[in-house]
Amino acid sequence: MNQFISAHSNHREDEYGGSLNNRLRFLREVVEAVAEVVGADRLGVRFAPLFESTEEDRVYIGLVEDDPHVTYIEAIKILEEVGIAYLSIAEADWDNAPELPHDFRRDVRDTFSGRIIYAGRYTAERGTRILEVGLADLIAFGRPFIANPDLPDRIANGWPLNAVDASTMYGGTEKGYIDYPAYAD
Ligand SMILES: Cc1cc2nc3c(=O)[nH]c(=O)nc-3n(C[C@H](O)[C@H](O)[C@H](O)COP(=O)(O)O)c2cc1C
Repeated sequence: MNQFISAHSNHREDEYGGSLNNRLRFLREVVEAVAEVVGADRLGVRFAPLFESTEEDRVYIGLVEDDPHVTYIEAIKILEEVGIAYLSIAEADWDNAPELPHDFRRDVRDTFSGRIIYAGRYTAERGTRILEVGLADLIAFGRPFIANPDLPDRIANGWPLNAVDASTMYGGTEKGYIDYPAYAD
């Protein structure tokens, strides 16, 4: 989906390439088609918009819009028109990654009336702040949940978290997936 949306990867010359409207056509058609089968109220879409990218980020990620704000707000308008259940935003998650601008979060909220989920380097405190100001409905955790099988209990009780071991994170064996200990006093 992102490859169609991004002018950097989409070099098509037909009605799926060129203008932003054309680049969003594939998104619209897929979302409409899936909604027709499963119901819009059971459908979610995940985007990974990247802001203020460095050259290093561009090489790493590959898909960067010239104007991510306009691009993704227009994409989210399509999701709103179809009326899907949730929008999941994967924020840049590497060290020193650019922050998602506040005005983008604001516009996402003002554009989309379904549930909004953010993920990416959240702590319980940071997630709570975004929830409290009303910009998100849910915060998702990736790596902390891999490393902490009892993450909700740890957050609820203020217990310390296990650090995630990046070397066992992608692929490999069950090591690093099922052997992190639950919290014990
Ligand atoms: C092992 C691993 C696999 C992942 N696979 C996917 C994936 O298939 N699709 C996706 O959208 N995000 C994937 N992610 C990204 C996470 O959903 C999440 O956005 C990211 O880990 C940032 O959140 P965190 O800082 O809480 O880990 C993956 C992350 C990890 C660590």
